Amino acid sequence: MKTMKRALAVSTAIVASGTLATADQMPPETSLSGLEYELIGRGDIYSYGSLDSYNQAPMLDALVESGALPPVNERLPAEPIIFKSGAMVDGIGEYGGVFRHVIGGRPEGWNWMAGQHQGWGGINMAMQECLVRQGPRWQVKAEEQTGPLPNLAQSWTWNVDSTELTVNLMQGVKWSDGDDFDVEDVRFWYEDNVQDENVASRMAKDSFGAANFEVIDDYTFKFVFQSPQAETIVENLAYIQGCPGPSHILKDAHPTYNSDATYDSYTQALPNDVVPPVVLGAWVPVVHRPDELVIMRRNPYYFKVDEAGNQLPYFNEMHFRLSTWGDRTAQAVAGTGDFSNMEDPGNYVEALKQSQDENSPVRANFGPRVLSWRLMLNLDPASAEDDTDRAMRDLFRETDFRLALSHALDRDAIGQALARGPFAYPYVAGFSTGSPYYDAGSSDFQPFDQDRANALLDGLGATDTDGDGVRNLPGGGENIVITVLHDGGANADRKQAEAVASQLEEVGIRMNLRSLDQTTMDTNRTSGQYQALFARLPVILPTREVCETFPAGANCPFFNRGGNRLPFEAELASAYDAFVASSDAAEQAELAKQMQRLMTENAYYIGTVQIPAALLVNKRIRNAHPGTPVFMYEWAEDSVIRERLWTPAAEQEEEVLPGTVAEY
Ligand code: GLA
Ligand code: CA
Repeated sequence: MKTMKRALAVSTAIVASGTLATADQMPPETSLSGLEYELIGRGDIYSYGSLDSYNQAPMLDALVESGALPPVNERLPAEPIIFKSGAMVDGIGEYGGVFRHVIGGRPEGWNWMAGQHQGWGGINMAMQECLVRQGPRWQVKAEEQTGPLPNLAQSWTWNVDSTELTVNLMQGVKWSDGDDFDVEDVRFWYEDNVQDENVASRMAKDSFGAANFEVIDDYTFKFVFQSPQAETIVENLAYIQGCPGPSHILKDAHPTYNSDATYDSYTQALPNDVVPPVVLGAWVPVVHRPDELVIMRRNPYYFKVDEAGNQLPYFNEMHFRLSTWGDRTAQAVAGTGDFSNMEDPGNYVEALKQSQDENSPVRANFGPRVLSWRLMLNLDPASAEDDTDRAMRDLFRETDFRLALSHALDRDAIGQALARGPFAYPYVAGFSTGSPYYDAGSSDFQPFDQDRANALLDGLGATDTDGDGVRNLPGGGENIVITVLHDGGANADRKQAEAVASQLEEVGIRMNLRSLDQTTMDTNRTSGQYQALFARLPVILPTREVCETFPAGANCPFFNRGGNRLPFEAELASAYDAFVASSDAAEQAELAKQMQRLMTENAYYIGTVQIPAALLVNKRIRNAHPGTPVFMYEWAEDSVIRERLWTPAAEQEEEVLPGTVAEY
């Protein structure tokens, strides 16, 4: 078989494309990516079909015998998803054991449809299954990169006008309590969560082409769009946006179906201390000890098998120790955790040194630069809290103000403060360099230049009228003191926010840093409740968590929710809409360049640096493909395909709850 290698970091040279006549160019980039792998066809990873017979994890035999569970062939759909052996680096697995995660997050609650997260670090993804799947696409060859991979949506077709998308759901999939998954679950997700403005769903109202939902039968439905769309828009139906929840549980808690319910009570309907929730994922949370541990057990109704007919997943148990993100890497390096996305550059040198020892329990692989940080100024005048806040936001809406802040940043110094060495590369705005849509020649760089920053600020009339060292709002208003929220638990965020504050102080702009926990940050960020916010947000695909970055739909982006768009932002919105409505890869690449240019030359938000990340996986874990990127189409927890990971029986960790599954 011919081996193909894909160079993930494409921007090793500056491309003078002529799109940016007067712009400053990005400095040269050196890639650290060591990922090399063979690209395969979509259907080489998994397909749908029926097999002559099915097997289950031996621990389930007793539960079937006692009548607690139906036999495996009754629990599986007629045509389950079949994972192909040819794409498994270690082949068909052995059942049993524990997969040990360590995370820095804490489960907010189990109602993901109402926007609640379960603590991140892969726990959300272990419970949720979505209409389509993006994670494994990193391994798909270019000519088959036609769109997302199917999942619960087994197939879909467009009408000739490209205004109607008919989706065929898998038939016979069951929730973890045995209830049927069908079109009503999808309708409820879309109509009563996404399109209900009062629910803070991850997919924002009207951001999916403002489509209407039409039920055709139990397993078929139609999205009817307001204007022609293309395959790209289907990517929105992947994690974390397109993941239905159990309508048979949640409808009764929703104000549309229950007059005693409120939107707040609906959001809280599945509190994190009540287990087990009903899920479609490979594992079900059965224990939650706050600040300590979440234990998940295999879902006996999971709808995927291997080619030998073994129902997945292979691991019986999954642990999420509730600790810190730094501890995730420390434990992976020490061998007491099985997995980490190494993403705090402060650990890189030491962790790499240790993992290169041949006795190290862990493997480390660096990918392209996909982690990027940014300062977002809230551009929405309508949600200002008082007159001063309003005047601040009016100033934020001045492109020269944002450009001044960008020129005031010494990004090399910020990078070196994070980690000595070649890890960090400047980030301004738009796509990360690891994105297939990044184009260096379409990026307007704002080099460190305090004179330019000062001149731009002076030009806006934001001078220090009272001589206390801090510039004042134009017209002799108050001092410009920007309140900036950041996640206090993330080292890399905190260090950078502090560096940004001290650098901006040098041009007379003061930042008042407020450190919050991750859950509060998430809520404030996605509801647009802040004056400014510093966070790590990857921009790889224009169709993932779209409201973090793009003016996609009326209430997007989160940093300008009120729909009061800046002139360039309207242009950006048109380019975005054209991108998702296009089915021509070359045209999409051009539109992505246009977006990149608009976002960088207007400093839509103010980026700091971008860094590569390394994936750490314990050597006892089999089927973890060494080419798996920490982040590309999705985070590594999805890309590594955990349902087909396994550990040989002799190396398995002892289960805490052997012989059990979630009981309802
Ligand atoms: C957090 C972590 C990432 C990744 C994601 C998965 O954001 O920082 O490394 O694990 O969760 O959702
Ligand atoms: Ca002043």
